Amino acid sequence: MCGFFTIVFNKENRNMGSILKNAGERLSYRGYDSTGIAVFNENEKFIIRKDKGSVEKVDKKLKFSQYGGYKGIIQLRWATYGKPSKINAQPHKDCTGRYVSAHNGNIINVHSLFEKLKKAGHRIKSENDGEVVVHIIEDYLNKGKSLNDAVKLSYKDIKGDYAFCFADKKSRKMIAVKKGSSLFAGKGNGFIVVSSDLYAVLDHTNKIIPLKDSEMIEFDSDDYTIRNIISMESIKRSPENNFLNPCIMYKRPYDSFMEKEISEVPTKIDLLREYYVSSNHLNKLKRTLSKGKLIITGSGTSYNASLLGTYFLNRISGIDVAVHLPSDINDRLKYVRDKSSNLLVVSQSGETKDVKNAIDSFRNYSKGKVIGMINNLASTMGMTSDYILPTISDMEISVPATKTFINQVVLFYILSLFLKGESKSNIDKKIKLLIKSLKKAKKDTDEQLSSLANKLIKRDFMHILGYSLTYPCAKEGALKMKEVNYMNIEAMHSSEFKHGPLALIKRKYPIILITTAKDKHYTLSHINEIQTRNGIIISISQKDKDIEKNSDINITINEKDENCFAIISVYLMQILSLKIAYKKGINPDQPRNISKTITVD
Ligand code: BG6
Repeated sequence: MCGFFTIVFNKENRNMGSILKNAGERLSYRGYDSTGIAVFNENEKFIIRKDKGSVEKVDKKLKFSQYGGYKGIIQLRWATYGKPSKINAQPHKDCTGRYVSAHNGNIINVHSLFEKLKKAGHRIKSENDGEVVVHIIEDYLNKGKSLNDAVKLSYKDIKGDYAFCFADKKSRKMIAVKKGSSLFAGKGNGFIVVSSDLYAVLDHTNKIIPLKDSEMIEFDSDDYTIRNIISMESIKRSPENNFLNPCIMYKRPYDSFMEKEISEVPTKIDLLREYYVSSNHLNKLKRTLSKGKLIITGSGTSYNASLLGTYFLNRISGIDVAVHLPSDINDRLKYVRDKSSNLLVVSQSGETKDVKNAIDSFRNYSKGKVIGMINNLASTMGMTSDYILPTISDMEISVPATKTFINQVVLFYILSLFLKGESKSNIDKKIKLLIKSLKKAKKDTDEQLSSLANKLIKRDFMHILGYSLTYPCAKEGALKMKEVNYMNIEAMHSSEFKHGPLALIKRKYPIILITTAKDKHYTLSHINEIQTRNGIIISISQKDKDIEKNSDINITINEKDENCFAIISVYLMQILSLKIAYKKGINPDQPRNISKTITVD
């Protein structure tokens, strides 16, 4: 997925290396397979220092703070093209050592472009798609094109969704291009900053220069020109004050951002309650939501939130909704010719490429509205959806989603109650009760979860089952334990388990079952089907003596409302996965191989 940050000062800044490193920490959620910096000084010289690993690891080795300069770039990789390695790390330089570029996103015709460039005599050193940028622009410059024309022609040649920056050591300017990946610019006193991440810009200035796809910005420390990259017409656009306060990047007193963000859950639910109960926000949406069918989509944790949201909407407000993975939306709409449905996209980052693709297909085939349930409102989806349902969780740093998931499903719960016609005061009361019950459940079950974590720490493979409403809870619990504990956990409907997977049961095979009291009429059979084959049942349930008696281990959540029980059950699974991560010595904030927002296909 990657991310970059670049800044140009009006004079040499000896803190350039530290500034880049701090920006790298901001960007670390976008990738930690490799990290690299380029620092330019006023004698038209630059250095590139890069290596495999996270910004902390590489900075420790290469000591970025020793480098000063008037302009600099830092880039972090989440590897797509080219294994994580020093040679595949960015930034990349051209053949002559005059130009430097860095990018984020996906250049899908990288191989054909590499072939073309090699035939033209370019020495391509890496397998990384980002290296295409610097050589293709160099190639056009070698043919006598102006810099603007070289960038424009390169933009046409490079296929995919990306953003990149490009620097010439002989010029005080920098160029950045936006095509389908996030890119933000900011103007400060004596400097201009551009980055894939808004908060990395807000760390330096709140005067944000809005950028759109198919635009380029050419800037030095004081001035900038935005152009439409196709027509090359310049676009007048002044900086706008943006008061999103970049939450300070501290995790103290917690040992991880995941632990900090789990602890913030009650406060964030309360913010959500306050916002939706005190505003008329949902009224504006009511007409649209009650007209036509609703298709819901999201990826990863946001998909699981969409699934649980579907159960809430069906059960509470009785409206018929369908939930599809983003990749299926394209297929469905192409053949079903659905013209009237509205599309509700769930995404905490608002930048997930799979979801953006679904929105593009939807816009091609349907006249319906796109409603964005988004956390980062300054994102592509945040700025291009027809309606917004903010999840108000503030920035989530840890890669595994926790507080944003809870606010997504609580928002679905609020939405369902609202569409059912519940009064605002009733909704207010219910959410306040949910917060109380969630805090109590955390307190009541903490010891049990710690002892369960001890029992499961050696497990590599197990199942988590849910029944109907709690199936999405099982899915999200399984995803957390995959992401944060590297355990191969399969989530299933408990009714499905007997149709085949029961063959996996052997002596002491543990199964977590999340079940409401009402569903015990089914789940008690599922418990017995497993126990008669010597499996172990760990149930997470509402208070019920039959479930307690029949389970080997029972964790009770004292919550009578099934929907609130379902939400709290996931909260406990988040806590359980965090406990196991600590016991296994896994850094829960940056699990291997994955990243916070994936802006590639
Ligand atoms: C994945 C993240 O890459 O993207 C998940 O690792 C996340 O945690 C998923 O749920 C979807 O992200 P978003 O921003 O669209 O909710």
